[in-house]
Amino acid sequence: MSKKYTVTAALIYANGPIHIGHLAGCYVPADIYVRYLRAKGANVAFVSGTDEHGVPITIRAKKEGITPQEVVDKYYTQIKQSFADFGISFDVYSRTSLPVHHSTSQEFFKTIYDKDGFVEETSEQYYDEVAQQFLADRYIVGTCPVCANPNAYGDQCERCGTALSPMELKEPHSTLSGSKPVLKSTKNWYLPLDKMQPDVEKYVGSHTEWKTNVFGQCQSWLKEGLRPRAMTRDLDWGIKVPLADTDGKVLYVWFEAPIGYISATKDWLIQQNGTDAGWESWWKKSDNEETKLIHFIGKDNIVFHCIIFPATLMAMGGEYLLPDNVPANEFMNLEGDKISTSRNWAVWLHEYLEELPDKQDVLRYVLTANAPETKDSEFTWKDFQTRNNSELVAIYGNFVNRAVVLTHKYCNGSVPALGELTDFDRETLASLAELPVKIGDSLENYRFREGLALLMDLARLGNKYLAETQPWQVIKTDAERVNTIMHIALQIAANLAIVSEPFLPFTAEKLRNQLSLSHQQWAEAGRRDLLAEGQAVGEAFLLFEKIEDSVIEKQVQKLHDAKKMNELATKSVPELKPTVQFDDFAKLDLRIGTILEAERVPKSDKLLKFLVDDGFEKRTILSGIAKHFSPEEMIGRQVTFIANLAPRKIMGQESNGMILMAEDRDGSLSLLQPHKEVWSGASIS
Ligand code: 2FM
Ligand code: ZN
Repeated sequence: MSKKYTVTAALIYANGPIHIGHLAGCYVPADIYVRYLRAKGANVAFVSGTDEHGVPITIRAKKEGITPQEVVDKYYTQIKQSFADFGISFDVYSRTSLPVHHSTSQEFFKTIYDKDGFVEETSEQYYDEVAQQFLADRYIVGTCPVCANPNAYGDQCERCGTALSPMELKEPHSTLSGSKPVLKSTKNWYLPLDKMQPDVEKYVGSHTEWKTNVFGQCQSWLKEGLRPRAMTRDLDWGIKVPLADTDGKVLYVWFEAPIGYISATKDWLIQQNGTDAGWESWWKKSDNEETKLIHFIGKDNIVFHCIIFPATLMAMGGEYLLPDNVPANEFMNLEGDKISTSRNWAVWLHEYLEELPDKQDVLRYVLTANAPETKDSEFTWKDFQTRNNSELVAIYGNFVNRAVVLTHKYCNGSVPALGELTDFDRETLASLAELPVKIGDSLENYRFREGLALLMDLARLGNKYLAETQPWQVIKTDAERVNTIMHIALQIAANLAIVSEPFLPFTAEKLRNQLSLSHQQWAEAGRRDLLAEGQAVGEAFLLFEKIEDSVIEKQVQKLHDAKKMNELATKSVPELKPTVQFDDFAKLDLRIGTILEAERVPKSDKLLKFLVDDGFEKRTILSGIAKHFSPEEMIGRQVTFIANLAPRKIMGQESNGMILMAEDRDGSLSLLQPHKEVWSGASIS
């Protein structure tokens, strides 16, 4: 029976650019897996695209002041380009706004509806009277009933991963107007997950091989007991519900988005052949071929791919394949903090490439070496630099460079003949044969970090071989032996090219070209005869370059600057204090005074001590502004102060009054001064 693989990578919302967390969590592992499958000669469809419906899109449109269509058009193009730039080798990068997706998901809905697979229910749902809209999903925020996160969404708590419905949130409020929602009656169609629980349980239970984080999350969901989930929404942005009298209702984005994988497969076939004929072979069970369906996602998508989408496929009648595996990753943090689009705490892919051009493989390497496979992991620029300099440059690049340079130096730039083997040669060749098998085993089991570490072991094997055989010494006495050494070293380099292809595709291609290597099949890796005697070897060049401290420091600074800019841009003026009566205000005696003397207060880095002419006498006022003003620049200035504030002792000194300041958005202070000089003691009313 022939074997096919349908490999999907999450359809990311087209509501912003993509960052390293996206690559690490889902797309790099998916790409490694697919490239490996292709190298094994498997028949693969690698499909993905953008998710262009749902509340995240309309929220972004509101924020940017453009239409939802403009949002998805803008980000689809940018996201697609970023993936291409990083070598994510999708067969198709589709989008859920395509007609083929609208019709496919509507057909799904209609089929399940016609089979009585939905429960129709009229119920009270939250409604925003200010925005005149029902509040689905991310339009409503409140406190999570499970972990008390105060910013849980109406469909999911991103802190604890629990899938929610708006009615479960405590203290809900609308993200549209901030108002407290009211309840209003509306009709929706629910997938009766409660009734489907035994089938879902059986399915999930048959996959004890899934990653612990994935299997565990599913089990805890099932233990809680599945509840019916609405598959329609009262929104205007989305795919229309294909039933009569359903104006203003669209399909729930988490109903139609995973169907997007199927539409993307059709889109791929249409682009190739002008027709979607054959799409079933990638998605339906068949007696004459076995197709494996594998979803690569991040941990926040587990429940949708392991429970809700399989339940949807079951509701279609049993002819669909169910996901064979869902190797979800945890999250990657950045410099000790959660990656956050809203706080601009991220390394954006398009910016990375502008500043570190041609370093795609370095990032792929670091993200894989540090992949959040079993728990959240951490990206730091320092680690990025160390892994580049101490691993890619010092181990991988160094070995290949030495092999090529020495071949040119001692063997006229072509693969020399293999002579008699020593025991050490045989040992090295045995390790060479073993490593690709081990790497393949790691990849088959979705252990990409482990696979990459083994790949580096192959480069280490090459370094060790050259270090121990010392061709630069042997050449003085035995040129024939050097031929054998360089022959073996080059075969190791050729093997490195094959096994690097899934992980470091740009490097693998350079290496293949340098060695004129025609072999690319995984099954050939481990062989000692990949390069033929006499075959020319290209000139040496550096596969990886050292990254200097200044480059890294610039990136860290950039990160902090961007976060700060974002904080400033999103900062709002302090809330108004409660109303006071005029009489309360009139009790304050506000005056203009002139500063006669100013000095620092010993042992305090905050306090300045002023002698102020208040029109009657000279009074002492202490003020905590030493970080903003020097004593010298304050002398002679007119300031506004509260003249009848009761005296207070600060650091043993009495202060008679308080100088008023305005705090700017960035925290800097500004004096409140009259626009022309006035007499000292002028009263403010
Ligand atoms: O989390 C997200 O960005 C979702 N748009 C992922 C959807 S994956 C699939 F179901 F389409
Ligand atoms: Zn929670």
